[in-house]
Amino acid sequence: MEKANIDWSNIGFGYIRTDKRFVSNFKDGAWDEGCLTSDDQVVISECAGVLQYAQTCFEGLKAYTTEDGHIVCFRPDLNADRMIDSCKRLEMPVFPKERFIKAVEDVVAANEAFVPPYGSGATLYIRPYMFGSSPVIGVKPAAEYQFRMFCTPVGPYFKGGIKPLTIRVSDFDRAAPHGTGHIKAGLNYAMSLYAIQDAHEKGFDENMYLDAATRTKVEETGGANFLFVTKDGTVVTPKSDSILPSITRRSLMYVAKEILGLKTEERPVYFDEVKDMAECGLCGTAAVISPVGKIVDHGNEICLPAGMTDMGPVTKKLYDTLTGIQMGRLEAPEGWIKVIK
Ligand code: PLP
Ligand code: COI
Repeated sequence: MEKANIDWSNIGFGYIRTDKRFVSNFKDGAWDEGCLTSDDQVVISECAGVLQYAQTCFEGLKAYTTEDGHIVCFRPDLNADRMIDSCKRLEMPVFPKERFIKAVEDVVAANEAFVPPYGSGATLYIRPYMFGSSPVIGVKPAAEYQFRMFCTPVGPYFKGGIKPLTIRVSDFDRAAPHGTGHIKAGLNYAMSLYAIQDAHEKGFDENMYLDAATRTKVEETGGANFLFVTKDGTVVTPKSDSILPSITRRSLMYVAKEILGLKTEERPVYFDEVKDMAECGLCGTAAVISPVGKIVDHGNEICLPAGMTDMGPVTKKLYDTLTGIQMGRLEAPEGWIKVIK
């Protein structure tokens, strides 16, 4: 298979149109068979539920070329499960799990030319999403929906690759208690756009959101969960009902405990504790693990001891183990890797 003419090592996290995407429509209470198509355009009613009341949710996962030349993806079953949770919360029809996984396989296989080569530093990002496509004018769920899945080759999410990031404590909230922070609703991202633009303008890479109710506990950033390492080597991640249950974070906590033999804790993390942490990282499909070097809270700087040049030692071990599993260099826990080709 001849690869697309792309400078794999120099692409960022952007959209590159690939050959095929999957589309299925929900009408009269049922999903149609769905198909792969070359058509990258969506035509819907001017009054579609997604356009009027933001009835949409999405997922994100990646496919990799392994060291021995296979194409695999990472835990697509968990993305299917999370999308089901998102759909239920947004009064959208569920797209069946086995069909979701089959669509991932079909989309990746149909775009093999766009799966970045092993060792290039790029991966294939897969974006499943669903939206209300039929007209609604009173506030209610749409009657018809479209489920789509496209893919695009991507490089690192943060410019500069794995150089430690500088983030700030946000004055804006990401998610309310009992709101939609735990699902992957488009609306969670729409309301973060002002905060992220403002952060970038002021020289920060991302926002650290605190819990909306008390502003004392660490939640997550706009697109990744937090992992901290304490000075005695415990890997700690915030527990909260209003953060997205990151598949990367859940996988890393397993790697930390079961593979690396580290102590792990999932518990509320108070912002006051952060100044005593040894390492901090942002984890997610797009972010992988991006180290944080500095956290700024209204002028007060917390400089993580690992510094601004490299990943801390525990973060590095986690990064190497997770990416080793994803790229086929290390044995994966049962069920984590789905071989596509
Ligand atoms: N938190 C938010 C708000 C996200 O958008 C994402 C990305 O999906 C994550 C965390 C990381 O989740 P995952 O590891 O499943 O990609
Ligand atoms: C992902 O990591 O898959 C996400 O959806 C995060 C997004 C900010 C790109």
